[in-house]
Amino acid sequence: MTQKIIETVSDRFKKRFQTEPLLVRSPGRVNLIGEHTDYNEGFVLPAAVDRAIVFAVSPNNLDLIRILSVDMEEEIEVQNTHLKKNNPQWSHYLLGVIDQLNQQGLKVPGFDCVFGGNIPIGAGMSSSAAIEAGLAFSLNTLFEWDLAPLDLVKLSQKAENEFVGVQCGIMDQFTNIFAEPQKVVKLDCRSLEHEYYPFEFKGVCLVLYDTRVSHSLASSEYNRRRNQCEEGVRFLKQHHPHIRSLRDITSEMLNSSKTRMDPVLYKRCHYVVEENERLLSACRDLEIRDLESFGNKMYQTHYGLQKEYEVSCPELDFLVEYTRNQSGVLGSRMMGGGFGGCTINLIKQDELKELNEQISQAYSHEYKKKPGIYKVKIEKGTHVI
Ligand code: GLA
Repeated sequence: MTQKIIETVSDRFKKRFQTEPLLVRSPGRVNLIGEHTDYNEGFVLPAAVDRAIVFAVSPNNLDLIRILSVDMEEEIEVQNTHLKKNNPQWSHYLLGVIDQLNQQGLKVPGFDCVFGGNIPIGAGMSSSAAIEAGLAFSLNTLFEWDLAPLDLVKLSQKAENEFVGVQCGIMDQFTNIFAEPQKVVKLDCRSLEHEYYPFEFKGVCLVLYDTRVSHSLASSEYNRRRNQCEEGVRFLKQHHPHIRSLRDITSEMLNSSKTRMDPVLYKRCHYVVEENERLLSACRDLEIRDLESFGNKMYQTHYGLQKEYEVSCPELDFLVEYTRNQSGVLGSRMMGGGFGGCTINLIKQDELKELNEQISQAYSHEYKKKPGIYKVKIEKGTHVI
């Protein structure tokens, strides 16, 4: 599938700009467990997948940046000094990166870029980070700046925080750059230490069911959750002055403050504290290759996100509940920021076909539209093709 995109993007570039481009593949991601923990300095367990955005780039020796989106069928032309013009929404992820590079003192020379891909937009597979980190990586390679991988991650995240206005954590951009094939990466979002766990289980596959709901609430509620967590930390600090984030709170500490805490803040904090503990124990499951126990934890994560963190939606809940008593399903939960997008599922290969048919039928019956079904493979992070 990606091969076709590589050809399309590369042909389009050559036709439009009459030169050979540098080609870069920048993948989408899944997250097995550890949701809404990254901006609380906790742990996450993501991987990059075989859905990606392909970039074709080349310097143009002009005082001009030209970017063509194959999927949007739209081209923009901007001057580096005027990034904040009235440009379409899709271009903000790219212009934000250029803005960050400028802020680092690397005056970005004129370049041409064509990009396109097959990461479903709004599905929670982080097409935005793939665009940001993909462009940062491409320009770093093209202009030989020697920025370290972690610098690319951080500036891409900042592009999203400052230019796009979503206060996202570091998970998506980190995964995009650091992911390895057939492995999930356990990232400590405080120290940024990370370790890889093999994630290949014979007869079991990773499948995403897409609600095809993309809620406008996503970014405003996302920022709100983040603020609520910070408020929770401020409250808990009164009794535990040494804490810096929810990462420093244990279930016992939280429990002892329960009666004095605002109930909504308590719920939000309780979910995050449990999710961090759950992730560490899920990694132990991987060490002993106990997928059954790992899958159960995915369900627990879902219920936490649904009832305590309140970032799910009826369509996501429906898809997770549907899998509950299916013998072929080891685990299922909503994935990413929430309010729409996909569920992530661990499914036994020999029951997959039948389950896909059943779930598609049930969902169509309930919501009058078919869910997207994406079987994904774990691949490596952004690289030159
Ligand atoms: C979005 C953000 C990430 C992370 C997840 C929730 O994908 O970009 O930083 O917070 O939501 O886990």
